[in-house]
Amino acid sequence: MLLTSKLPDVGTTIFSVMSALAQEHNAINLSQGFPNFPPDAQLIDRVSYYMREGYNQYAPMPGWPALRQALADKAALAYGQPVDWAEEVTITAGATQAIYCAIAATVRPGDEVILFEPAYDSYRPAVEVNGGIPVIYELRAPDYRVDWGMVESLITSATRMIIINTPHNPTGSTLKREDMLALQALTDGTDVLVLSDEVYEHLIYDGAAHQSALRFPGLRSRSFVTFSFGKTFHATGWKVGYCIAPPQLMAEFRKVHQYNTFSVHTPTQCALADYLRDPKHYEQLPAFYQAKRDLLLEQLEPSRFDALPCEGTYFCNFSYKSISKEPDTAFALRLIKEYGVAAIPVSAFYSSGKDEQVIRLCFAKTEGTLRAAAAALCRV
Ligand SMILES: Cc1ncc(COP(=O)(O)O)c(C=O)c1O
Repeated sequence: MLLTSKLPDVGTTIFSVMSALAQEHNAINLSQGFPNFPPDAQLIDRVSYYMREGYNQYAPMPGWPALRQALADKAALAYGQPVDWAEEVTITAGATQAIYCAIAATVRPGDEVILFEPAYDSYRPAVEVNGGIPVIYELRAPDYRVDWGMVESLITSATRMIIINTPHNPTGSTLKREDMLALQALTDGTDVLVLSDEVYEHLIYDGAAHQSALRFPGLRSRSFVTFSFGKTFHATGWKVGYCIAPPQLMAEFRKVHQYNTFSVHTPTQCALADYLRDPKHYEQLPAFYQAKRDLLLEQLEPSRFDALPCEGTYFCNFSYKSISKEPDTAFALRLIKEYGVAAIPVSAFYSSGKDEQVIRLCFAKTEGTLRAAAAALCRV
């Protein structure tokens, strides 16, 4: 059979490779982005409560109404713009499915989509499998700032979408109010859509406010904004997320969602609706994760690694230029084999493989894990 791959460049992700190697070498795994501590027992109890109470059949296609209402209220309160729970919120199988639906619903063959790299790895294949053409803007270490004049020069009559991500995986940088205003001005009067991936909205540090696309009316009206309960409530394996978009965009989004997944795990949605009633469950997150970031930075202070700025997410990047000239993948492999710590080489997040000799460490780990990893890295 002749089968021409629609995604010839896609292989096993670096996350699977590094996690498998970490296991093989019994290394401390700071590579893949997931917490090594459990979600709140109260939330787990609510999920099993709803399972026992018989909430085990299909949820409505756009999501459980009480959860969508809670999310619309939460977003309106946080970002100062009304959100219509019925028309504008859809619950998805993680943010990844939301990202896919937004792209599949709007990007046609030949459409250009501007992506900032390094990037979360699902954007590019989702664009390509739908016939879109990724137009890559490479951000550079150490601060990975966007030059919006450069972005303007990438916009053509074929540009359908710009994908942003703040706080940003893998770099830990954030877009500021000025960035969002620049993007708003750039897209004003155009048909360019924005996909704003905000899965780390609550993981933002040093008192900064998250600059959601939902805050800016000119962006709000053209944006799909994606979120993840996996990130917010330490439950990445549950794969529940959501998207907020204006009615015209959401109607198209749901046409794909309806046939791609239809609906998401009912008891989890019911439990999340209850859990969100208490804002402390997410309001405490910046302090919780900032303490972990600061512990990792403090423990690595005596090491030869140089920390890059980390304003948000649960990733902190480190340059190892003063240790070695090795390519970052070779260096990361050596860290696993010789020092027992797994990290992700940041070149993996660039389609070009750009190597600035930076590794990414995930600090969504217990204090004991972070201290043990840092002690090993201080020996490098
Ligand atoms: C930037 C970004 N977007 C989306 C996701 C996926 O979220 P989910 O697990 O809810 O699909 C991740 C997960 O690592 C991510 O880092």
